[in-house]
Amino acid sequence: MGLNPDPPDLAHEGAEQAPERLFWVLKNGIKMTGMPAFGMTHTDDQIWAIVAFLKQLPRLNPQQYAAMLKEAGVRPSPAGGEPEAAPAPGAAPPSPH
Ligand code: HEM
Repeated sequence: MGLNPDPPDLAHEGAEQAPERLFWVLKNGIKMTGMPAFGMTHTDDQIWAIVAFLKQLPRLNPQQYAAMLKEAGVRPSPAGGEPEAAPAPGAAPPSPH
């Protein structure tokens, strides 16, 4: 990606960093990087929910992540998410149901 500095690998940041620090970074952003401040648009409760997600992220496998997206009503991105989730070449398109 074209960001300098590069964004972190969140699957590792979540495991390594204290919840309080993740909360602070998410709420305030990081100056002079691309990291936005979610405190402008999200409540503290919503930011803690993101922290809770980051803490689970290292333990999620692609199937569990896909199930969470489905439960949240998020459609898969057209760019394709995890390589494991990509349909095999020549596979039938996913059913809309
Ligand atoms: C829910 C969405 C996001 C989460 C949970 C998140 C989380 C984080 C965390 C925890 C850090 C601190 C890493 C450290 O301690 O060094 C960070 C830094 C950063 N994030 Fe995000 N971020 C999000 C969205 C974004 C977006 C949308 C962008 C850019 C478009 C972005 C770009 C960056 C960059 C460039 C850094 C700085 C890395 C550094 O200081 O070297 N982040 N992010």
